[in-house]
Amino acid sequence: MTDATDQRLAGQYEAYPYPKRDPRDEVKRLVVGSPSHLREIDHWVFGAARPARRPLIALVAGGGTGDATIMLAQQMTTLGRTGAVTWLDRSTAALTIARERARIRNLTNIVWEQRSLLDLPGSGIGPFDYIDCCGVLHHLPDPAEGLRSLVSVLAPGGGMGLMVYAPHGRTGVYMMQDALRRLAPPDETPQQRLDVARRVMKHLPETQWLRHNHFFDDHINGGDAGLYDLLLNPRDRAYTVPEFSALLRDAGLRVTCWVEPIRYDPAPMLPDPKLRAKLDAMDPTERAALAEALAGNMAVHIVYCVRADDPVHAPDPNAETAVPVFRELDGETLARSIRPDGTLTVVFDGLRIAIALPPLAAAILPLINGHRGVGQIRAILAGRGMKPEAFAQAWRQTFAALVRVNRVLLAAPV
Ligand SMILES: C[S@@+](CC[C@H](N)C(=O)[O-])C[C@H]1O[C@@H](n2cnc3c(N)ncnc32)[C@H](O)[C@@H]1O
Repeated sequence: MTDATDQRLAGQYEAYPYPKRDPRDEVKRLVVGSPSHLREIDHWVFGAARPARRPLIALVAGGGTGDATIMLAQQMTTLGRTGAVTWLDRSTAALTIARERARIRNLTNIVWEQRSLLDLPGSGIGPFDYIDCCGVLHHLPDPAEGLRSLVSVLAPGGGMGLMVYAPHGRTGVYMMQDALRRLAPPDETPQQRLDVARRVMKHLPETQWLRHNHFFDDHINGGDAGLYDLLLNPRDRAYTVPEFSALLRDAGLRVTCWVEPIRYDPAPMLPDPKLRAKLDAMDPTERAALAEALAGNMAVHIVYCVRADDPVHAPDPNAETAVPVFRELDGETLARSIRPDGTLTVVFDGLRIAIALPPLAAAILPLINGHRGVGQIRAILAGRGMKPEAFAQAWRQTFAALVRVNRVLLAAPV
């Protein structure tokens, strides 16, 4: 199903392919993030149980200028993982940029599909072990239909990484969209509308909430594409935790991780024991909804999910052969950042959270290299005099603390 608004959306992403990317930057850096980081897929979708040698067939639906496609295809190539990543989008302009990024990187594991994700059922494309859909569902005429379309090409035992907008962290966005619709109606050309928005932004009243909202900077640093996508988008809607949960549930999906898990836990924000006790009675979705409302800073929700009846288990960090791996961190640096009181401070969009680590974490963290198993790490530390029981307890606590910030994960078995 498409409508006039959807046609305008298609026009937007031809005029301003999103996000703004210069393919020449590929020689300088790899854009990484969630969802669809290969380490996260291994851990949160497949429970660190799917062998790395099994080909991974992935789809990036609404791939835009290619961030997730390039990241995943590059990570698979670097780690010698077989399979392919299919980029799918309607936009010709986005396709041109994404393809050039892949060419500069010499990536040969990408399939290009220019079409609507709504046409997937019955298309013969797929099935896919993993599907990314980041920042797309909330623009569709019927997000539930879009999600059903994706589920129709999800292989048995597969999973997804999804991102949708969240309302509280976007405070100011929808009132600005309202103001701009009045000054630059959607039937004007994208260029005319952008011109109006730029003029308005120059004299934004000091009371406008967007001026006080520092949880994103797309309208300031994202170029024309960023400003248009945020403030002139012909259709976007934001989902609270309960609303997004319902969308997923109705599509037959179950969340394995809200990214980052600690952000969806209200406990660090409620140190008062009387209030803490109330949390015990809440189910995970209620707790996540409370965390969202309390923090007030979430501009997006990112989840990994699998079919509701899929028996994927949480990875077991205490197994002898479990191989911990960092996400863009190194153990030496992390160990040095532990403060004298045993805590690490992490900051999520302005929200500071102190994570408590056991004293032995400083000895364990530098030994994590993405190849050593937990048993090997224990053996090395035993050689330095650490008792196995002390290691077991410290490792349990260390892993539990750091997996909640999505920084230590378990690697796929070889
Ligand atoms: C906000 S961009 C997100 C791009 C990318 N996923 C990212 O996160 O960087 C939304 C993308 O969805 C695409 N899109 C919108 N509706 C679509 C549809 N029905 N089928 C395929 N792509 C669609 C647009 O062309 C655009 O590239």
